[in-house]
Amino acid sequence: MKKVVLAYSGGLDTSCCIRWLRDKGFTVICFSANLGSEFSPDDLKRRAIKSGAEKIYIRDLRREFAYRYILPALKAGAIYERKYLLSTALARPLIVEHLVDIAEKEKAQFVAHGCTGKGNDQIRFEVGIRILNPKLKIIAPLREWNLNSREEEIEYALKNKLPIKVNKDKLYSIDQNIWGVSIEGGQLEDLNKEPPLNSYYLVKPPDKAKKSKVYLEIEFGQGVPFKFNGKRMILVKMIEEINKLGCECGIGRTDLIEDRVVGIKSREIYEAPGAWILYTAHREIESLTLNRETLFFKDLVALKYAQLIYQGLWFTELRKALDAFVESTQKFVSGTVGLTLYKGNIIVSKRESKNSLYNKGMATYGEGSQFDRSLADGFIKLWGMPYIRG
Ligand code: ARG
Repeated sequence: MKKVVLAYSGGLDTSCCIRWLRDKGFTVICFSANLGSEFSPDDLKRRAIKSGAEKIYIRDLRREFAYRYILPALKAGAIYERKYLLSTALARPLIVEHLVDIAEKEKAQFVAHGCTGKGNDQIRFEVGIRILNPKLKIIAPLREWNLNSREEEIEYALKNKLPIKVNKDKLYSIDQNIWGVSIEGGQLEDLNKEPPLNSYYLVKPPDKAKKSKVYLEIEFGQGVPFKFNGKRMILVKMIEEINKLGCECGIGRTDLIEDRVVGIKSREIYEAPGAWILYTAHREIESLTLNRETLFFKDLVALKYAQLIYQGLWFTELRKALDAFVESTQKFVSGTVGLTLYKGNIIVSKRESKNSLYNKGMATYGEGSQFDRSLADGFIKLWGMPYIRG
């Protein structure tokens, strides 16, 4: 029998995929990754088997996600279209790596995913799979089957006795991991309305956020956050802790009209409290420790880096080359940032670094200035010279 390894989330789409693939004559092996959403391995296993899977691989990839994907994106400062910190997009290539690994172990010729034919995720999955193992054949049931709506899928699932949690008024499509939540569909498709109260679900609305300020400190060593409020912490733990505080303080909601790879403009809202807090802190240390040319160029790199992640081009030479550039800039990015969180705002309260390029003697308008202002006159004449005619 033909064998297929399916990236399985436990939701309606991928449950239907199991059954559909079985009916096409495949032995179905599922793979689920724990990246920090609500996750119960026992429940997943029970439901995959009940839907017709032969077995399921479940891997906790949170740590790998943090160090191999989130951290490079954080160092690079990658933000897509100014508002999206790429939580979903970053997770896909990691899932792909494990999907391919399992397919190879299982000697399966096929892999499958439950992405729709309109989104970015199908691109991220398939480009990644082709780069890592061009011999694998890819099946995308949602592009092939004739179930044309959620209602039809539910009907199919009920008819085939699939163990789905039927919830006809599931309003939004949600993807969650430790780096953030992506929410789309339902009433969000109406661009003239602010997100309904039931749409964001992680972060408190700023007007209902904690009434008092929350102060926190993050210490970086060569671009890596490694201490939180004075305590050494692995990155996963730190992100989880900071997420909690951020949620309480109403941090990290964004509402974006974004450009999908396939050309569609769509509206998605995001919640990424910890991610925005860490980005802000990291950039603050960079502002203090990097010279202006490096900072400027790094911002250009950040735009391209974010686009590569978004467009499913993680496993490319350019991404690796940009990583090498970014890494070389992080040598001096060490120090401590103090932040105050208050009703949706991240306020920088303190920054300090042994590599600081800030020189108070140069900057001061008070007494004891070491800046030789008599040099300014000549400097300005030379600086402007190229632009003066006659
Ligand atoms: N638009 C985001 C991206 O392309 C998230 C996609 C998944 N969103 C979702 N709500 N299921 O990365």
